[in-house]
Amino acid sequence: MVQQQQQSQQQEIIQHVYDKELPIQQFSYQHLREKPNPTYQHNGAVKQGEKVPLLFTPYKVKDLQLINRVVVPPLCMYSAVDGFMNDFHLIHLSSFAKGAAGLVIFEATAVCPEGRITYADAGLWKDDHIAPMKRIVKLVQGFGSKAGIQLAHAGRKAATIPMYLDSSKGELGKDDPNFWQAVGPSPISFSPENNFQVPHELNEKEIENVVHQFKMAASRCYEAGFDFIEIHGAHGYLISSFLSSTSNKRTDKYGGDFEGRSRLLVEIIKAIRTVWPTEKPLGLRLSCNEWLDESANGWTMKDTLRLAKLVKSLDVDLFDCSSGGNNIKQSIRVRKFYQTPFSEAVKKEVPELTVAAVGLITTGEEAELVLQKNQADLVMVGRGFMRNPQWTYQAAAELNTKIDFVLQYEPANRTFNFLKPEDD
Ligand SMILES: Cc1cc2nc3c(=O)[nH]c(=O)nc-3n(C[C@H](O)[C@H](O)[C@H](O)COP(=O)(O)O)c2cc1C
Repeated sequence: MVQQQQQSQQQEIIQHVYDKELPIQQFSYQHLREKPNPTYQHNGAVKQGEKVPLLFTPYKVKDLQLINRVVVPPLCMYSAVDGFMNDFHLIHLSSFAKGAAGLVIFEATAVCPEGRITYADAGLWKDDHIAPMKRIVKLVQGFGSKAGIQLAHAGRKAATIPMYLDSSKGELGKDDPNFWQAVGPSPISFSPENNFQVPHELNEKEIENVVHQFKMAASRCYEAGFDFIEIHGAHGYLISSFLSSTSNKRTDKYGGDFEGRSRLLVEIIKAIRTVWPTEKPLGLRLSCNEWLDESANGWTMKDTLRLAKLVKSLDVDLFDCSSGGNNIKQSIRVRKFYQTPFSEAVKKEVPELTVAAVGLITTGEEAELVLQKNQADLVMVGRGFMRNPQWTYQAAAELNTKIDFVLQYEPANRTFNFLKPEDD
């Protein structure tokens, strides 16, 4: 409780700084744009005669032109107040752009207040949320990166305590002032042992409303200037829990067979596409495997491949292959490249999709290997970027490739003739 109060005081200060002292205009980096792309110039950056690592080749999907294949995946920071992003998010996200990530995806952003994982999630359920995000989008793009966002509804895993405050307690108790009722496909708790709620079973009218909320949030993404939207269909949150027969026991049109359980996702994709132009790519993050025994009849790769084809036919462009999170009984052996077999299989089955690999890929060499083996088109690095926002610079060095740094950091580039040791 004390920690919660401290966090809320800290957020009030951050919000005050944002509201009163740092208007959007002060964050324009246009005056630094002496070069067409000050962050990264690929052609000039690679030594002659040297083979360009795939990681540093540009990539284009629809109107999204990336300077390289390095992507920062969504990373919840649980640092928003009433859904509003603030200066913490600005520093956090723009540092990855400063570090030359091709695409920076903003954290899981709730389409409605009850769809937040915690009370401190970012949101886009009202127009007022647009301005603080737009400011960060502009800054990210100003560095030469592209800005994406993940739209999310936490479903039955909503109303939890921010991970960094206490990861062991699970959901907020009913007596907590921040408590709200979670919702889901069926009244089945994610984990009674960890105090997860029995969710309210959404009725058809309420499902219609959720679809509308995704559509409205997507149209706000357009207003905010995002280059890319990713739908959060992973980790046991609302869409993911509808997809799996272990959490969806409905007998109406939103349950039952594959078609019924996929209906919510299909309706969300169609609704988003009415406001998100076809030239702008749309993505889906999926838990490709529920990691359960066969007898549990959970979501498997077979379902994933079927879904990948289906969503491609609905104008989804990018498939982001994650896994797990929907069932407390999951058994995952987390290790290097543990999720790349999923991206590899999707790439083989639906080659028209842009496929992203994620999960414990930590070095430039590992990322390059995933691309060389044709297991993905893009590589996402999460905690690696949290440890080092200039991860891309480090990856380039590992791969013996010279890339331009952001102008101000060039004196620290190995290619810059400044205070070099004599025997260099
Ligand atoms: C602090 C933190 C926050 C995360 N937030 C999200 C999120 O908002 N949406 C999501 O789909 N995954 C989220 N993830 C998962 C990451 O996007 C990524 O898939 C995962 O960390 C594995 O990649 P890594 O091994 O490179 O970190 C989060 C992970 C961490 C560590």
